[in-house]
Amino acid sequence: MSARILVVADDPSLQASDRPPDLRRIVVVGCGHVGLVMAAGFAQLGHTVTGIDKSPELVVALREDRVPFHEENLRELVSSGVSSGRLSFTTSYQEAVETADFIFLAVDTPSTPGGAADLRNIRAAAHSIAEAINGGEPIIVNKSTSPIGTGETIEGILRRNLAEAAAVPRIVSNPEFLRQGHAVHDFFHPDRIVIGAHSSRDAMAVADLYRDLKAEVVITGLRTAEMIKYVANSFLATRVSFINEVARLCDALNVNVDQVLEGLGHDARIGRHFFNPGIGFGGSCLPKDVAALRYMGETLGVATPVLMAVQQVNHAQRTSAVRALRAALGGLEGKTVAVWGLTFKGDTEDVRESPAMDVVGLLLNEGAVVRPYDPSQPHKLVPERLRETLLDDPIEAARGADALAVLTDWTEFRDIPLAQVREVMRGDVLFDGRNLLRPEEAERSGFRYIGMGRPRSVRAKVPLAALTAVG
Ligand SMILES: NC(=O)c1ccc[n+]([C@@H]2O[C@H](COP(=O)([O-])OP(=O)(O)OC[C@H]3O[C@@H](n4cnc5c(N)ncnc54)[C@H](O)[C@@H]3O)[C@@H](O)[C@H]2O)c1
Repeated sequence: MSARILVVADDPSLQASDRPPDLRRIVVVGCGHVGLVMAAGFAQLGHTVTGIDKSPELVVALREDRVPFHEENLRELVSSGVSSGRLSFTTSYQEAVETADFIFLAVDTPSTPGGAADLRNIRAAAHSIAEAINGGEPIIVNKSTSPIGTGETIEGILRRNLAEAAAVPRIVSNPEFLRQGHAVHDFFHPDRIVIGAHSSRDAMAVADLYRDLKAEVVITGLRTAEMIKYVANSFLATRVSFINEVARLCDALNVNVDQVLEGLGHDARIGRHFFNPGIGFGGSCLPKDVAALRYMGETLGVATPVLMAVQQVNHAQRTSAVRALRAALGGLEGKTVAVWGLTFKGDTEDVRESPAMDVVGLLLNEGAVVRPYDPSQPHKLVPERLRETLLDDPIEAARGADALAVLTDWTEFRDIPLAQVREVMRGDVLFDGRNLLRPEEAERSGFRYIGMGRPRSVRAKVPLAALTAVG
């Protein structure tokens, strides 16, 4: 095995040498952004994989070689798995579970309005698995991000619902850290693989599935693995909100955040990743995972002021984007704003919890006319009032606009000739909500550039005396 195994669990019986035989029939429940990548990835590693999804439309699409979301190299990977005969899809648990050695759960765990994780899909899947197990002893591996204690909940559901003769349920937590847009790459090149279990044998059996990947495998207790995922996402969210706060200070203090980042990034303790100022984090993971960790703290009487601040700063980024546009345009009523990017980040078609969508909503509420463009053409995913106005060309979106707002970090926006964009616009405001473009080039093209923490010498220098107690 090229994967290096680190055992950090308390259980002294967890020894890297305690290796079970290879077991390779895998079921993946939930064929969405995580499950499909994992199913196709495991098939590529030589395992035989059946993907189960409750959505018949999705299963039909996958059987017909259609991947209904944008993810680099995923279609090719799925096609290759299907044509090798090692990857198939079904809606039927009965069909797949009976012969499985491993059953991965990759169902969605959205937020409830109060911030708690909604576990209905996990519970439903656990019930369906219990009904379909017929004497086998598959290891149930939870990949879905779900609160600390979910592994034990799944175990309880199986215990209560398995046929009496069946063995004790074998539950493992194996949280997923992939990045949407780079998911296939991340499956094959993970920074680490975290596996939590009560049983050393089960943890090692799951580790063995990844044997051909060059990655460190961290073996922990069941709850620890669940916690690691929440801490990882909450820390990433904290970095984003922290640098957004810094960017606002930079704007006020006439300091360029890019240069600050350059000076910080070389410090190995700080680094450069996940440290880009912008209109905030979004997507189906970070917001809900921060909310769920806060909810767990509140339930247990543990205050989480840091996480609360992370959420507040993140929310305020949306409104500060609108404020900047309002100020630059002298009001938004009747103004036309071209918007580049609707997805929550570049390289995905996902608009769930997208900051760009929030900003667009706020602009529309203030009476602005929005001309949106997104490279992923997410027609089916945006509300009707936007669908009709969605344009399929970035320059066309800019035509006649008073301002251009770049709201998602699609790298291809960097290659659009700004002079040409400026020519078709009525106004000259360019709000770069992702610090994606080069301010100098924008200004050379005739734009008034507004970035995040990139003041453009419009603000008078603040006298030091105003910033110090002793002057
Ligand atoms: N998307 C990411 O980048 C990412 C990264 C790391 C972890 N995660 C976590 O992974 C989990 C899955 O996320 P996702 O983005 O893949 O979700 P998704 O919404 O894209 O896909 C979930 C799929 O599960 C299916 N499903 C739900 N309940 C089911 C059931 N009972 N039986 C069969 N199928 C069922 C749905 O039909 C859907 O196709 C979540 O817990 C998420 O927090 C997501």
